[in-house]
Amino acid sequence: MKTFGVCFIACACYLSRVSGQALAAQKYAPTLQPCPGGTALVREAGSNAYTQTLGDEEAGYIAARRSLVLPNAWASYSRNVQQNTPVALPAYVDTILSGLLGKEALPNLGIASSGGGLRAALFGAGVLSALDGRNQSSVQAGLGGLLQAAQYLSGLSGGSWLVSSLSQADFPTLPDLIFGTQQADADGFGGWITPENLLQPGANSNETAEFLELFVEEVHGKWAAGFPVSVADVWGRSLARHFVNGTTADDFADATLAHGAGLTLSGVANVSTFRAYAQPFPIVIADSLVNRPNGTVVIIEPDEIVPLVNPIYEFNAYESGSFDPMLGAFTPTKFLGSPNSSVCALGFDQLSFIQGASSNLFNSMNTSAAALASSAIGPIIGLIEETMPQTGLRLDAADIPNPFFGLAQGTFVDTNSKILSLVDGGEDGQTTPLQPLLVRARGLDTIIAIDAPADTSDNFADGSSLIATQTRVQLLKPAYAFPPVPSTQTEYLAQNLTKRPTFFGCNSAPDAGDALVVYIANGGAPLGEPPLTNNPTAKLSYTADEAQAVLNQVFDVATQGIPVSAAGGETKDPEWPACLACAVVDRARRRLGVQRDGVCVSCFERYCWS
Ligand SMILES: *[C@@H]1O[C@H](CO)[C@@H](O)[C@H](O)[C@H]1NC(C)=O
Ligand SMILES: *[C@@H]1O[C@H](CO)[C@@H](O)[C@H](O)[C@H]1NC(C)=O
Ligand SMILES: *[C@@H]1O[C@H](CO)[C@@H](O)[C@H](O)[C@H]1NC(C)=O
Ligand SMILES: *[C@@H]1O[C@H](CO)[C@@H](O)[C@H](O)[C@H]1NC(C)=O
Ligand SMILES: *[C@@H]1O[C@H](CO)[C@@H](O)[C@H](O)[C@H]1NC(C)=O
Ligand SMILES: *[C@@H]1O[C@H](CO)[C@@H](O)[C@H](O)[C@H]1NC(C)=O
Ligand SMILES: *[C@@H]1O[C@H](CO)[C@@H](O)[C@H](O)[C@H]1NC(C)=O
Ligand SMILES: *[C@@H]1O[C@H](CO)[C@@H](O)[C@H](O)[C@H]1NC(C)=O
Repeated sequence: MKTFGVCFIACACYLSRVSGQALAAQKYAPTLQPCPGGTALVREAGSNAYTQTLGDEEAGYIAARRSLVLPNAWASYSRNVQQNTPVALPAYVDTILSGLLGKEALPNLGIASSGGGLRAALFGAGVLSALDGRNQSSVQAGLGGLLQAAQYLSGLSGGSWLVSSLSQADFPTLPDLIFGTQQADADGFGGWITPENLLQPGANSNETAEFLELFVEEVHGKWAAGFPVSVADVWGRSLARHFVNGTTADDFADATLAHGAGLTLSGVANVSTFRAYAQPFPIVIADSLVNRPNGTVVIIEPDEIVPLVNPIYEFNAYESGSFDPMLGAFTPTKFLGSPNSSVCALGFDQLSFIQGASSNLFNSMNTSAAALASSAIGPIIGLIEETMPQTGLRLDAADIPNPFFGLAQGTFVDTNSKILSLVDGGEDGQTTPLQPLLVRARGLDTIIAIDAPADTSDNFADGSSLIATQTRVQLLKPAYAFPPVPSTQTEYLAQNLTKRPTFFGCNSAPDAGDALVVYIANGGAPLGEPPLTNNPTAKLSYTADEAQAVLNQVFDVATQGIPVSAAGGETKDPEWPACLACAVVDRARRRLGVQRDGVCVSCFERYCWS
């Protein structure tokens, strides 16, 4: 309560002092201008999942990547895995991957990286590093090169920080992404700066309060320009200092810098690796609350859970919207926030805001009147109400003028809502962002699902996310196809399915249309190591040493496979890299009508859940 009061007074002075000066405040504000001729603010992608289409720009990216980048990427991965496994792979693996059968025969791989705060961001980064063909240890472990060969990379919440920061920083190696590089200039990427707390920066509560005031000041211009502003904007300004270009550890507290304000999701299409089709196509997602139009400011729904039937929204550099059959519509990301098709908004799609939306857990906190002041967002809500009065708005969600107003009446719950209110993409229970990778038009063969939520009391995964995805796929039938997975957490735990890589969908019929899912969960420490990867989601700062130790341990998690007995006790499975290669090519093999063969047969016996 005390911080609350101090904050208001300090804030009023602060605002009058810096208002109109801060660079970030100017750059964060969207601008309005006449829409370019021929602009369509809505693309209907279709509600029939079998006939849905990708946007032209995404389709172009994917086609160009497939012909210009992936043939070399797959050939290189194939060499890595063959040179670094003690077993011979069946001939069809290399025949497919080396491109002998043409680029149409190559596998179509997607990777999904889960939510779960910084723990999940670091866990996902560790797995991606183990798949990175630029890392010699990963190459020697026989996994390196898969990251370069993936078509899509999806993230939510902590995973959205990973996916979006990696993409906008021009696809550096994971250690460079997390720890920064010496040569980064003022506008470059300065690393994740994990020692500084994401939610409560500063050395003490006074400094934290000052940071909060600054973050609120930075979003003021957006409000003044007539756009809705909520905690997701303010939270995003903190995230910007960690996951967007423009901040180093040294200038973290410098209030005169832009700290990534002005850098947009649509702008990611301009970074050089994106222009060269050299990164997997990045997608981040957020869940939606159903908005009921109401004249009062609605702050709270304590302990809210998002129903699985609510639309899931995805954001990529080109388009934002939903493939869910209830909506099936997109708007150009660069024009997100536009009031109507004659006046277009530019700069609403700030990267920090999208990151804030995807990780907006604030609606699930206890923000009842009695608990608000002592909750982490109490001071932010207070400052917003004080300095940016608004009506009819969820202050505890990310609010976006609804581009799909009036659309899909009868199926789209928000058709009559002027605002879409979005929250953390994991709030419906699906912490792993599989939905974008299940879209039939994307045609994925294999999905590497990286799952690091705090399901168990000791912050490990228990399969809840896959269970939720299976349930949603049933509810939305026939929009998505998903392989059978165990339907109780007990089964995952009893069979150790979260403690070792598990393949799902090994024996699906071709007409099932599902991808083969390679599940890599954060389910326990690797052989002989004390657990380091199960910190609470609320741990929002890591020293560099802690972060490095997590990366090292995740490398062992990702490269261990199912441990095998050996002379001196259990060891990593030397065949695991070969088994992963078998999984990655398996749908492509089936398309060719070739029998599963050689080591792939025994691999599937060990790694498949039946
Ligand atoms: C290779 O990956 C490991 C594990 O993620 C990491 O600790 C190491 O720094 C990486 N090496 C390089 C050169 O990036
Ligand atoms: C971010 O900085 C990196 C260099 O660190 C640069 O290559 C990249 O283009 C920048 N991204 C944006 C969106 O400005
Ligand atoms: C925080 O600010 C208050 C009021 O200005 C002051 O009394 C207190 O000593 C400060 N606390 C710290 C840790 O600096
Ligand atoms: C991409 O860069 C060009 C010039 O380098 C610039 O004109 C354009 O506005 C940029 N696009 C975005 C979306 O940032
Ligand atoms: C609007 O919200 C208030 C406060 O939550 C509630 O009491 C009221 O019933 C709502 N009105 C409508 C029309 O939903
Ligand atoms: C479009 O939005 C602008 C800005 O809010 C408003 O001034 C204008 O009247 C709107 N035009 C139409 C046709 O609704
Ligand atoms: C929320 O907090 C208030 C005040 O501390 C408490 O009375 C209430 O039971 C809490 N609600 C929930 C759902 O935990
Ligand atoms: C699960 O792992 C434990 C210890 O790691 C082992 O004792 C047990 O046999 C395993 N269960 C199965 C079904 O593999």
